Amino acid sequence: MTDRRLSAARNALSTSRRIAVFSGAGLSAESGIATFRGNDGDALWSRFNPMELASAAGFEENPARVIDWYNWRRSKLANAQPNAAHVALAKRPRLVQITQNVDDLLERAGVAASAVLHLHGTIGKDRCNGSCGHEETVDLASAPPLRPCPRCGAYLRPAVVWFGEGLRQDVWNEAQRLCSQLDCLLVVGTSATVYPAAGLIEQAEAAGSKIISINTEPSASFGAEHLELVGPASVLLPQLLEGL
Ligand code: OAD
Repeated sequence: MTDRRLSAARNALSTSRRIAVFSGAGLSAESGIATFRGNDGDALWSRFNPMELASAAGFEENPARVIDWYNWRRSKLANAQPNAAHVALAKRPRLVQITQNVDDLLERAGVAASAVLHLHGTIGKDRCNGSCGHEETVDLASAPPLRPCPRCGAYLRPAVVWFGEGLRQDVWNEAQRLCSQLDCLLVVGTSATVYPAAGLIEQAEAAGSKIISINTEPSASFGAEHLELVGPASVLLPQLLEGL
């Protein structure tokens, strides 16, 4: 069954000109980066409270707790390597990369930084929690503890999108523009439950795009043109993209 689905998906890809990849935490799971909602017992939101650690209110209540938690995630990422799924994607520069992931594993696998739309920001940077706009890169292996913004004195915070916050408008506009004119959207390792990001799948589908999904768990149907591949991204993506 999977073989037949795989060849149907390969056919769908080979007849598509404009292809984008919409990825989530499952893409990096096999690099040892925990997902948020996967059912392997390691998922972050089954162990931690997102409102304490990933919201403006949680930061206001206890900023040091939030920074320490992000620095723990940063140190894990510092020791991680791209997996075969990242590498397979990086070998196909004509695929547009739209990701919910805040890690830099696609870039480390060889995708140009300018070619990845990080909808939820990047954990490798801090930005001012006030309004001065200051941003700086942090060393993942030795990220500094809570500290003030050198420009305005407000606290610095990770340059990621928290619950209740809007996405960066330029990044979101570009993702929407791309997804409105695709032949095929490849959805990899996402629970597709967090909006507005997950709405890109519906948008692409409504605009006539085929949808191919790769996930270790069966997922919701993404419309009549949806081809679902169930299995790990590190195995299925290289097989799917071979020869593309
Ligand atoms: P989730 O943790 O919600 O979903 C990860 C998905 O990956 C699940 O559906 C798993 O079944 C699947 N999965 C796990 N391992 C896999 C593997 N090896 N190969 C393929 N699939 C695998 O992660 P996201 O959908 O990315 O927000 O979550 C969306 C957002 O929720 C995140 O960006 C984050 C979180 O709160 C922010 O950081 C703002």
